[in-house]
Amino acid sequence: MSSADQAAKRPRRFQPAGSLRGEIRVPGDKSISHRSLMLSALAVGTSRVTGLLEGEDVLSTAAAMRAMGATIERECIGEWTIHGVGVGGLLQPQAPLDMGNSGTSTRLLMGLIASHGIEAKFVGDASLSKRPMGRVIEPLSLMGATFDASEGGRLPLTMRGACPAVPISYRLPVASAQVKSAVLLAGLNTPGVTTVIEPVPTRDHSERMLRGFGAELNVDTASDGTRTITLVGEAELKPQEIEVPGDPSSAAFFIVAALIVPGSDLIVKNVGLNPTRAGLIAVLRDMGGQIDELNAREVGGEPVADLHVRHSYLKAIDVDPAIAPSMIDEFPVFFVAAAMAEGMTVTSGLDELRVKESDRLAAMATALTAAGVRVTEREDGLSILGSRGDPLRGTDGAIETHLDHRIAMAMAVAGLASVRGVEVDDTRPIATSFPAFEELLDGLVQ
Ligand code: S3P
Repeated sequence: MSSADQAAKRPRRFQPAGSLRGEIRVPGDKSISHRSLMLSALAVGTSRVTGLLEGEDVLSTAAAMRAMGATIERECIGEWTIHGVGVGGLLQPQAPLDMGNSGTSTRLLMGLIASHGIEAKFVGDASLSKRPMGRVIEPLSLMGATFDASEGGRLPLTMRGACPAVPISYRLPVASAQVKSAVLLAGLNTPGVTTVIEPVPTRDHSERMLRGFGAELNVDTASDGTRTITLVGEAELKPQEIEVPGDPSSAAFFIVAALIVPGSDLIVKNVGLNPTRAGLIAVLRDMGGQIDELNAREVGGEPVADLHVRHSYLKAIDVDPAIAPSMIDEFPVFFVAAAMAEGMTVTSGLDELRVKESDRLAAMATALTAAGVRVTEREDGLSILGSRGDPLRGTDGAIETHLDHRIAMAMAVAGLASVRGVEVDDTRPIATSFPAFEELLDGLVQ
């Protein structure tokens, strides 16, 4: 971020303001929104997407796909029309692709470009420019793409795709849906069969959506849970009508807020409950959280329900690291729930949290400590001693969000359950994934 941007930081103190009662609807899923723009842009013909998340990250994807030839129009709130160029039809972008804060845009688009004979430069903000891209550079190089990256495999980087690319069989060394998706998207314009072997299951939106668009994709699950995904290349994608379900990662902030603020009774409508994303709800229920599913249905090929959440007395838990991938983005706000539980909550196996939009283990340990919580930070997790339902002390100064939307929103939730409130140094990053967050929160707690 430039020094001019620094000066424009938007701090806010989130104050306790009573219970959360009523009904809210969460915005469209970020992962699914990115993918629906990318795949629609590669289909031959016109796709329509409703419920698209209009956060900055998704808008970065839209701008990049436009820069590579797709026609993308916003009809009205959440409703978009995309005229695709066909697999193999991406054009050379004329200017650097500005990915802002978005790791998903960057890694998935690197995959798409890897099998098109075009060159692209990727740039991003200070947070994104610290994040490792080696994890996608490695498999995409095996497919024939070439990269000129900044030190440590970071942005800014320039890449050149290979046409034709070479199909690979790639075993994921990290549990990452972004890496899996990058290889599969590269496989779309690669002759032959591209294979990804996933020892630990991660979110499967790419697989579901690729199938929905007509790609020949097969998933084989072994008895130990290892998934082998094969995609037949030089695919032809057919345009679709997509309804994007609500984002469970956005719902998470309101679910935890309702669980920890006394007197709360909240319905969160339209929450995506894909099993590869629903880990937080299972863990909170194990801790005693009252979360009921109403009106279970399917939206856009994904399970969805409305969630009825009531204030609950939570008990500490040792979180099984095996569940981590299905709640990977929810740990910041989960740590806030743990801070209100009875006993010591222990998390482990969370090394990946150190390379998200910020180092989320360090950022949350520092932020919660500043709010009066007893936290021990280990290399791969936090141990948090809960308050037995008592409000947290809150902060005097501002906690640092490090350009990380989820740190800002998690600590906003902590503020609601505190004595003094919690001050967040900058609320602007919230717009990357949940532009209406503050408005929704303020409307609820009045
Ligand atoms: C995402 C995958 C996850 C997640 C990110 C979105 C995706 O990242 O943290 O917010 O849409 O594929 P990793 O692949 O790095 O785990």
